[in-house]
Amino acid sequence: MNVPKIVAMKSKEKISMITAYDYTSARIADEAGVDIILVGDSLGMVMQGKNSTIPVSLDEMIYHAKMVKAGVKNALIVVDMPFMSYQADYVEAVKNAGKIIKETECDAVKLEGGKEFAVTINAIVSAGIPVMGHLGLTPQSINIFGSYKARGKDEREAKKILDDAKYIQEAGVFSIVLESVPKNLAKEVTESVAVPTIGIGAGVHTDGQVLVYHDMLGLFDDFKPKFVKRYAHLKKDAVEAIKTYTKEVKEEKFPTDEHSYE
Ligand code: KIV
Repeated sequence: MNVPKIVAMKSKEKISMITAYDYTSARIADEAGVDIILVGDSLGMVMQGKNSTIPVSLDEMIYHAKMVKAGVKNALIVVDMPFMSYQADYVEAVKNAGKIIKETECDAVKLEGGKEFAVTINAIVSAGIPVMGHLGLTPQSINIFGSYKARGKDEREAKKILDDAKYIQEAGVFSIVLESVPKNLAKEVTESVAVPTIGIGAGVHTDGQVLVYHDMLGLFDDFKPKFVKRYAHLKKDAVEAIKTYTKEVKEEKFPTDEHSYE
């Protein structure tokens, strides 16, 4: 998989994207045939147990992205630029995007924001690094929004998201994540840009979908956003398995001769 192939999928074939944060989860996602694996800064919540993505550092993103890279043969790997790795100025943003790509050998970076980041996006793309955009609910701005509620529900905010999509397309993004926006707005954005849109909580009309690995497999159950569909209940299965193991250890039913050396 590569960036031009993802762009060419628009209007032809829906794009599937999932997050992964380590070798094993990346191998599973890749073997299942997803088109894109996102090393999301959502790792702050599902891997580190933090309340938001804000504390995640550049070095932590690089650490996780290296493990993901080791497990992937086919999918395109996109790495989130964490909070404050690109916001201060575009020169620093180019250097940090370069550090991610050079040290991890992943394919592209993702950053949140619209018109105000057009110069930054253009500078990173000009350095030869593909950029995925992210509009709508942008979790790194949680302290401005004050909640993880859907965005773009009023006319003013909907217009800004639509305008931002055009600005960041012009700046050079190869695709745009639309998070938690009304499905009709996602449809309008999707029809207004030439690059693929990838929705999470954005309805069926986007060019692709993304879900967080731990959410869709039922590994993370601290909370469940409306847009999450659980395709498995692995936490429940894991708790059951470990309970059985503990019981068997205590009752001396494990290990048996089958698991022992002579
Ligand atoms: O960090 C992440 O997992 C994301 C997805 C929710 C798109 O940005």
